[in-house]
Amino acid sequence: MIDPADYPLWNSPTMGAYLRTLRPESMLVEGRGVRVRDRGGRWFLDARSGLWNVTLGYGHQAVGEAVKKQIDTLAYANLIGYGRPSAISVEAANALVPHLPPTMNKIRYCSNGAQAVETAVLLARFLHRADGAPARRAVFGLWSGYHGLGAAGGALTGMPYVHEQSGPLLPDVEHAPGPFTAGRPGEAGDLERLITSYGPERVAAVVVEPVVGEGGHVLTDEYLHTLAAFCQDHGIYLIVDEVTTGMGRTGEFTRTGQVGVQPDMLTLGKGLSAGYAPLSAVVLSDAVYERILGLDYDQKFLIGSTNDGHPLGLAASIAVVDTLTGDGVLENVKHRGAELYAGLTAVAERHPHVNAVRGTGLMYAVEMRGPDGEPAHEAASSHLRLAMEDRGVLVSALAISPAIMIIPPLVISADDVTQIVTALDEALEELGP
Ligand SMILES: Cc1ncc(COP(=O)(O)O)c(C=O)c1O
Repeated sequence: MIDPADYPLWNSPTMGAYLRTLRPESMLVEGRGVRVRDRGGRWFLDARSGLWNVTLGYGHQAVGEAVKKQIDTLAYANLIGYGRPSAISVEAANALVPHLPPTMNKIRYCSNGAQAVETAVLLARFLHRADGAPARRAVFGLWSGYHGLGAAGGALTGMPYVHEQSGPLLPDVEHAPGPFTAGRPGEAGDLERLITSYGPERVAAVVVEPVVGEGGHVLTDEYLHTLAAFCQDHGIYLIVDEVTTGMGRTGEFTRTGQVGVQPDMLTLGKGLSAGYAPLSAVVLSDAVYERILGLDYDQKFLIGSTNDGHPLGLAASIAVVDTLTGDGVLENVKHRGAELYAGLTAVAERHPHVNAVRGTGLMYAVEMRGPDGEPAHEAASSHLRLAMEDRGVLVSALAISPAIMIIPPLVISADDVTQIVTALDEALEELGP
């Protein structure tokens, strides 16, 4: 047990409750490959990739070397003033662009995912204003969509608690039910219907994750294409948030590229630098970029932060792109992903209290069912997480769903997949119906 008087941090959302369960030996001290070791000497398979970002595992030689070399060469240069951007920012963008959807060629680097989404949303409003339509302010997302925390990211995130805890957050943000499968509210078309009744001429942008991290719901190709066409018809910017799905998670560099959708803006984060240094990005379509290029000098989009496009993150990102293209990682995602899905669904069949297994690539939710046949209480996710941890596998417990998220590094082996599936099977057995 930790004595709060001797504990200097307050990062956890539930400080007292958290400290009552934290043991000094459980702190992580080392990572190698897809495993991490705690201070007590125990190794765990990190099937949550840090926070879904350590896509190439720990101690990755090429990424680590690139970051170390950059520290010795040029540890920092700023991208806000832009008078002298770092050369590595241009190299990193040039390395990434060939792997993005065909018309998505212009990159702005930021520091974290929430900030990238905020930048995209505020840019959408800014451009409508520049076009003489300042009333186009509303932004639509999906209930249970996740776009980060804070005044803008939290407003876009479809979780009422986040809106209420210290609101009001960013105004004029609306949410529609997700177009999810049976047992969930909403159906395809809800978003379009809601916008139609709200008045499309008041809407600046729509933000969606192509695979909703909170529950693993995969938006179908048809849904994304219909949404893109709807947004285009109504002059609404479509922002696809690929902070989690981007950089290989679904087996391609982007999910939008995989399904052939052309958004106006795309956000990347997490796997962009594989967790070796903070980095995120907003990618613009050529058409949106043309609009920016044509703005007058006094029409400034004044936004940004000191560490945007930090050279260490950029150095990591170049090595990440090389690794994803050269080392068969994307193929591994497809093979291991298929094995993982098959293993998880087989386990779900043996345990009737699993409500659903959802996801794609190497990104799966396992949702629990309560005794009444409905999705279980959300605490079920924490129980399952801890039971898996007891068996040496770290997974994420979701915030508002009774589900865990299994989202391992893209470089896991077939044996690692077996370890995850076995741990889930045993953990479910222990928890019982
Ligand atoms: C889809 C998506 N968008 C945005 C974010 C926020 O990223 P960050 O935590 O880096 O602010 C996340 C983080 O989980 C995410 O999954």
